[in-house]
Amino acid sequence: MPEPVPNRRYPPFERHVFICLNERPADNPRGDCTRKGSPQVLARFKELVEGMKLKPRIRAQKCGCLDTCELGVSVVVYPEAVWYKQVTVADVDEIVQSHLVKGIPVERLRMVPPQPVQGNA
Ligand code: FES
Repeated sequence: MPEPVPNRRYPPFERHVFICLNERPADNPRGDCTRKGSPQVLARFKELVEGMKLKPRIRAQKCGCLDTCELGVSVVVYPEAVWYKQVTVADVDEIVQSHLVKGIPVERLRMVPPQPVQGNA
């Protein structure tokens, strides 16, 4: 049975960022994150995580479809499970500085779940 590596943190990351790099055919009505610029978004996340010496505490990596294609570029940050929509390269610095470093999600970019309809009961 494999042994844990001494002095290595398990699980290894305090925050884990997934950026959708899924591609669909150009005529797909849902669109996809890659055509909306997710490779550039991923590159900026990686550049900042590396440049700000946030590794190995924080990791940003590509992922497949997060099933929120209409709202792409889709990004999700764990362990908080904060989902971001329509993320552009220009938004990445704010997400890194506020959420990844300080733990404060960027509210203006969040996918806010629909609020329940108030009944008359
Ligand atoms: S293509 Fe990115 S969420 Fe589906």
